[in-house]
This record gives sequence, C-alpha cells and structure tokens, in this order.
Amino acid sequence: MNIILLGPPGAGKGTQAERLVAGRGMVQLSTGDMLRAARKADTPLGHQVAAVMDSGALVSDEIVSALIDDKLSTMTADQGAIFDGYPRTAAQAESLDAILSRHDRKLDRVIELDVDEDALVERIVGRYSCAKCGTNYHDTFHRPKVDGVCDVCGSTEFKRRPDDNEETVRTRMAEYRAKTAPVIPIYEARGILVRIDGMGDIDHVSAAIADILDGK
Ligand code: AP5
Ligand code: MG
Repeated sequence: MNIILLGPPGAGKGTQAERLVAGRGMVQLSTGDMLRAARKADTPLGHQVAAVMDSGALVSDEIVSALIDDKLSTMTADQGAIFDGYPRTAAQAESLDAILSRHDRKLDRVIELDVDEDALVERIVGRYSCAKCGTNYHDTFHRPKVDGVCDVCGSTEFKRRPDDNEETVRTRMAEYRAKTAPVIPIYEARGILVRIDGMGDIDHVSAAIADILDGK
C-alpha cells in the first residue's frame, strides 16, 4: 500500500507514520526528515535549505521531489510507502504521479488529518525528540515512560527543532493554507481521500488509520 498523510504542521503525520513503520513494516518518506538529515550531515543541500526551513517557508518543488524519487529507488516492491509532508503543492502532487508510475506504484489512500489549528501551536512548541534515535515526544501529550530517558534507545539526550517556535509555526500554517490545502481537492476528485479526526488522542487516530488500511 502507498499512502499520503496530509495535514498542517503538528497534525500528527510523523507520529502516525512512526507507528505504521513499527506496526506494519511500511517505510516513512518524510521530506522534512530528509532535509533535516541533509542539514545535520552538513551537505551542500543542507546549507541551501537551512534559511528557508527556519523561516517556515517551503523549499523548492524540484528539491523535495528529487528526494522522494531517490528514496523510492532504494525500496523493494513489497514495502509500502507513507508519504509524510509530501506533496505540499499542486506541482509536487503532479510530480508524485510521475514518480510513482516510474516506480510501478499506485496511490491507494490519502488520509487527511483534520485538526483545529489553535491546538497545533501547543503541540508543536511542546515537541522534542531523542537526539540519538529521533523518536518523537511531547512535554504533555507523549512523555517517555521514564522521565528523561528515551523509550526506544535509552539515550538521555533530547533536542528541539529550530522551526518549532510560535512565530515560525504561524508562517508554516499560512504556507499550508495557501499552498498545501489546494492539493486536497485533487485527491478528493479521484475518490481516494479520507478525512479523519486528528484531534483525538494518539491511539484513537492510529485506530482510525488502521481501519482505513484494513478496509473497514
Ligand atoms: P516537516 O518536517 O514536514 O514539518 P511540518 O509539516 O510542519 O509538520 P510537523 O513535522 O511539524 O508535524 P507532524 O504533522 O509531523 O506532527 P507530529 O507527529 O510531529 O517540514 C519542515 C520544513 O521542511 C517545512 O516548513 C519546509 O520548509 C520543509 N519541507 C518539508 N517538506 C517539504 C515539501 N514537501 N515541500 C517544501 N518544503 C518542505 O506531532 C506534533 C507534536 O504533537 C508531537 O510532539 C506529537 O507527540 C504530538 N501529537 C501528535 N499527535 C497528537 C495527538 N493526536 N494528540 C496530542 N498530541 C499529538
Ligand atoms: Mg513531521
């Protein structure tokens, strides 16, 4: 299965993708994670995108579509893809069609996480992750089982994203409304869009996604 998780910043795309990876052996293709990895590795691409990302604006369509194409080339046919944070513009949606057909894949479902924007700021400014393995946490909604110790790898080092401050979040939301929301009707018209309530707790959202993937 190949699916898109669609929704504004903080909607829970990464959180749910992580669970699908662990539970179903699918592969998460997060353009945000790929760009952050390029920055961390100090590559020319990382340098090129740093300022744009920190401002909350979108990086160019060509850059992110090339990252998706490259990642799909490393996957085997039996591995399902979860597109997280891609496509984010109508041009990216068009590129994805071409990329998928080159890789002999088809899009099964686009799952839109329907959320209340006001609640998202709290989700985002409270977010942090393990500095070693990247597992995501939240100050209030998703704390490690033992305070200060990562559930997955036991590390005690954590980090926060530079774009997770209130001002940048507002820019990211505005970008979503202006450039990404117009992608929704494209998939609605194809009959593959499913909208689910993203405001429930994390387990409830996972259960709703599982029902969709299991065809219930
Ligand atoms: P990206 O990394 O994709 O960021 P984003 O879309 O802004 O989304 P987030 O990662 O902030 O939110 P999420 O939906 O994954 O939420 P999460 O699960 O973490 O992109 C960053 C930047 O890279 C962009 O601004 C742009 O510059 C660039 N970029 C990336 N892709 C691009 C593209 N395709 N084109 C152009 N530019 C691109 O959840 C958030 C928090 O809430 C967590 O702490 C979590 O624990 C908590 N939480 C999750 N679900 C729930 C719940 N149900 N209840 C309570 N808390 C919850
Ligand atoms: Mg994310």
